[in-house]
Amino acid sequence: MVQSRASFPRIIAHRGSPRAAPENTLASFRKAAAEGAAWVEFDASLTLDNRVVVFHDDDLDRTSDGSGPLAQMTFDALQGLDAGSWFAPAFKGEMIPTLEEAIELFAEVGLGFNIELKTDPGREVELAEVALPIAAECWRPDLPVPVISSFSRQAVAAAKEILPEWPRAMLFDRLPEDWRSVGKALDAVSINLSQRHLTREQVMEVRGAGYAVMAYTVNEPDRAQTLFSWGVDAIFTDLPGEMLRQVGK
Ligand code: G3P
Ligand code: MG
Repeated sequence: MVQSRASFPRIIAHRGSPRAAPENTLASFRKAAAEGAAWVEFDASLTLDNRVVVFHDDDLDRTSDGSGPLAQMTFDALQGLDAGSWFAPAFKGEMIPTLEEAIELFAEVGLGFNIELKTDPGREVELAEVALPIAAECWRPDLPVPVISSFSRQAVAAAKEILPEWPRAMLFDRLPEDWRSVGKALDAVSINLSQRHLTREQVMEVRGAGYAVMAYTVNEPDRAQTLFSWGVDAIFTDLPGEMLRQVGK
């Protein structure tokens, strides 16, 4: 059931197509699909009343007309927010999607996905427990098996218990000293790293140990080519259309 490393897409649309539409909204995911992306990455967050929504930041301020921590808001309160106007007036009325809405859209348009569990301290396991059964229920099984990732080891460990058949990726900013033991304990298929600090030696070391390497966030085609030449398996990009044109699938 677990995908082989080779079957990951090279180009993954990061939060949809966030230069063309407000990030992590249905409009952004539709735009990524229209630009030719095969996969999207998105961020799954837990509301105060344990609903899972698609949202990146801890706070609502940057990407909605709300303010304060999302984790302190009920789902009903979030439903009243506008997640599009901050980006451009044309997106007024775009809402913070539920997890179900996002995955149903992926099923409709044929997008593969990487669900990143964006955890609130103390609720890492809770997020995985609520989100992953929903994700499994809404996923279209003829599409590629999704990837679950998180910066939280606890969340990835919970994913291993809850939905073991979906491959897992551990996210790091910089490759830590103990990455081998973490990857092994989580039975991860991929180590996902910031492209800013990544070196060719690290890519070779991690791939040599049998893991895929995915790098975020890569918006320069030249940088993407360099990373691919080092053996990086996939990149997350804010510019999926341009990257596909310049670098190819
Ligand atoms: O999953 C790759 C990337 O999305 C991780 O960082 O902050 O953009 O969610 P961030
Ligand atoms: Mg993310």
